[in-house]
Amino acid sequence: MKFFIDTADTDEIKDLAATGMVDGVTTNPSLAATSGKSFIELITEICAVVDGPVSAEVTATDFPTMMKEAEVLRKIADNVAIKVPLIPDGLKACKALTDDGTMVNVTLCFSPAQALLTAKAGATFVSPFVGRLDDIGADGMGLIDEICNIYANYDYETEVLVASIRSPMHVVEAARMGAHVATMPPKTLRQLYQHPLTDKGLKAFLDDWTKSGQSILG
Ligand code: G3P
Repeated sequence: MKFFIDTADTDEIKDLAATGMVDGVTTNPSLAATSGKSFIELITEICAVVDGPVSAEVTATDFPTMMKEAEVLRKIADNVAIKVPLIPDGLKACKALTDDGTMVNVTLCFSPAQALLTAKAGATFVSPFVGRLDDIGADGMGLIDEICNIYANYDYETEVLVASIRSPMHVVEAARMGAHVATMPPKTLRQLYQHPLTDKGLKAFLDDWTKSGQSILG
């Protein structure tokens, strides 16, 4: 499973990229607006740190303007994935861009029917939002299960990119279902490492080692 981080905080991206666990980055207009940088500057900086796909979202909602914005964004670096909203013009732009060899991430997916349309449009990634479905009392992970099952019936190349992740259990469940990618806030990626028994066990090992008075390095 690939791990993307969902943030526009370049310090966090640099810090986590150094762990070797970051396969890509997703941003959205809300995250970008908090960065204090121009959007072009922000995406350029992220693409210089991470080799994998970096999602940069168009803000137009009509096909011709989306294509103009995508043209600007895809020139930033080869690893830019153009993010488009799951609306008819967004899927039209998705088809045109992927036919032209550009990676496309279709965002704001909330139903299996929308995911099916996205795969037919040739998207590189579909982004179903699990946390926002949970927020309204729906079953976010149930949607991931449905999409993974539907895609498995065909030879679609679209990867399921689980978005709006709020906890490590979302990541683990997504992996169990066979989703290709999980994009998560930096905090969630850090939480994946944590277990109290790891901390307790390590402390006991090191306390015993200290008592022995030995050193591996002599
Ligand atoms: O970037 C898309 C998605 O991951 C947003 O997450 O937490 O704002 O619902 P959230």
